[in-house]
Amino acid sequence: MAVNRAGVKAFGRMLRATAYHGPALGGGMTRTVTQVQETRPLLDTLTAIRTRRAVKEYVETPLPKAWIEELLDAAHWAPNHRLTHPWRFHVFLGEGRERLVSARQAAVRWRFEREGKTVTVQDMEFARTKCYSSPAIIIVSVVGADDPIIDRENYAACWCAIQNLLLAATARGLGSYPSTGDWIDENFVGPILGLSENERPVACIFLGYSEQPTMAKRLPVDRHTFWHTDA
Ligand SMILES: Cc1cc2nc3c(=O)[nH]c(=O)nc-3n(C[C@H](O)[C@H](O)[C@H](O)COP(=O)(O)O)c2cc1C
Repeated sequence: MAVNRAGVKAFGRMLRATAYHGPALGGGMTRTVTQVQETRPLLDTLTAIRTRRAVKEYVETPLPKAWIEELLDAAHWAPNHRLTHPWRFHVFLGEGRERLVSARQAAVRWRFEREGKTVTVQDMEFARTKCYSSPAIIIVSVVGADDPIIDRENYAACWCAIQNLLLAATARGLGSYPSTGDWIDENFVGPILGLSENERPVACIFLGYSEQPTMAKRLPVDRHTFWHTDA
């Protein structure tokens, strides 16, 4: 659906006027790295759901491997029809993130060429910086299926797993966000992940300690709810 600029602005005004502004990361407060390391917060489910936000600024301090394993375990408990376990988690830490740079840069070059623009050194540097923007980067890929319905179920299950991971990270006082974009959607990461023919990338999750204040924006849910109570 094409949305014109005036429509976007009007939507923005409506959002500002009516949005539920929820609390910041981790239950109304931003935690320092030390607080997260020492107290190991654990939020209840509804608080984690409400306080999870897309966090873009990270502290470079590496995460303990066991903490990442806990989040992957949470992801793994997501619903998946027929128990296909369709998700694959590719975890990039430390210098391992260098492996992502060529894919991200290739995707930027591809996009610019399509749009007839010239790629600058700064564009390439920005692409590299994104690959180092959080201490952990997890790319989730899906094992597809020949049956289109099962394929769709598998893809949906991967997003359930991603949400589990994001919520578990929030519950533990960590920042995160899921991201797609050309390097994922156009499978530039495929060769780096060693994906086979029937696998494809779903999303990239940025993860780490964050001291970034966040603000939630959502319209009231009753605007999007339809109750069917009569026969
Ligand atoms: C399928 C999907 C793809 C997304 N892709 C990106 C992305 O490429 N870049 C980005 O900055 N955020 C991405 N996001 C994060 C959303 O922009 C973010 O969730 C949204 O702005 C709402 O903010 P909140 O999560 O803090 O409520 C994506 C989220 C989803 C569900």
